[in-house]
Amino acid sequence: MIYSSYLNKSLNVSHHLDGFNYNPSLRKVLKCYMIKRLKTIIKNKGNTIMRLNKIDLHLHSSVSNDAQFSPNQVMKMCAESGLEIIAIADHNSIGAFHIAQQAISDQKLDLKLIPAIELDCTHKGVNLHILGYGIDPDEPWFSKYSQTIDEEDRNLSDLRANKIRELGIFLEDDELNKHRINGILTGEMIGEVALEDKRNDDNVFLKAYRSGGSRSDNPFVNFYWDFMAQGKIAYVEVNFISAEEAIQRIKAAGGFAVFAHPGNNIGMDEELLKDILDLGLEGIEVYSSYHDVIKTQFYREKALSRNLLMTLGSDFHGKSKPSIKLGNFNCVDEKELTKAFLNRKEIQTYL
Ligand SMILES: [Fe+2]
Repeated sequence: MIYSSYLNKSLNVSHHLDGFNYNPSLRKVLKCYMIKRLKTIIKNKGNTIMRLNKIDLHLHSSVSNDAQFSPNQVMKMCAESGLEIIAIADHNSIGAFHIAQQAISDQKLDLKLIPAIELDCTHKGVNLHILGYGIDPDEPWFSKYSQTIDEEDRNLSDLRANKIRELGIFLEDDELNKHRINGILTGEMIGEVALEDKRNDDNVFLKAYRSGGSRSDNPFVNFYWDFMAQGKIAYVEVNFISAEEAIQRIKAAGGFAVFAHPGNNIGMDEELLKDILDLGLEGIEVYSSYHDVIKTQFYREKALSRNLLMTLGSDFHGKSKPSIKLGNFNCVDEKELTKAFLNRKEIQTYL
């Protein structure tokens, strides 16, 4: 029942039936049919029904080593997609903000850009991402942290590649070097090189990431998640700050902290969630490309019960996650959430 009402609201089923108001029983039958049909499509396509939104608060530019498009390109694409309120939340860096702001001004784009960041951090041994909104884009601590993490990533890059080679997957050094950015090899880059190497054509480990395979929707990042993310066989540990420090740093820079795509990092672990929210988070990224209907509902309820801000973000990266499109995710309460977000005092300066 809750699921049906969620589908009804999220996909605006009632609106599509407005023409049938004169015949309530036919309207009822059609509504049941539409909801049933949508459930089937969701079941068959893995919850991929999406609709466009005007707001997307979780985008990545090439300032993130794992994203494809420059800040200028992302701005142009956002405007073309019909987005109006956006935030580039690069990994550990606010470096794209001024570039993107300049692009908006130069190209006279109708976009409101909110300064944001996505900090890598850890809590009780679990790696998390915390989003910071409304932060001072010139806060020096962020660039220092970004440099520290980049340095560590650079030093660990070859170890990452070698762990994949130990699985019998071929990786050509020249190809890896072509993909490196600032000397860094991300898991997604390693996945891309592995999948392009002809010597791996028959490797069963890689079958799922090739066309038609079960993990082929976002092959490079899925490779990373399956082999190289925390707890996986080729994981290499990086020293991140604590989640508590991440939240404090965001607040000290004038912003507020939001738990990014929690379903992706902690599933639906109630105890861990409570623990993390108690650290001082002020919002949850309820609407995320990574959350299916069940996880969205779970986090929506948690946010409502604790009176936390709900946010929405696609986590657009470009080629490493090709199935994720700008502003393209389910959100039942876009208007209300947008209003609540824009009402935050930390955001007012940027409107
Ligand atoms: Fe992200």
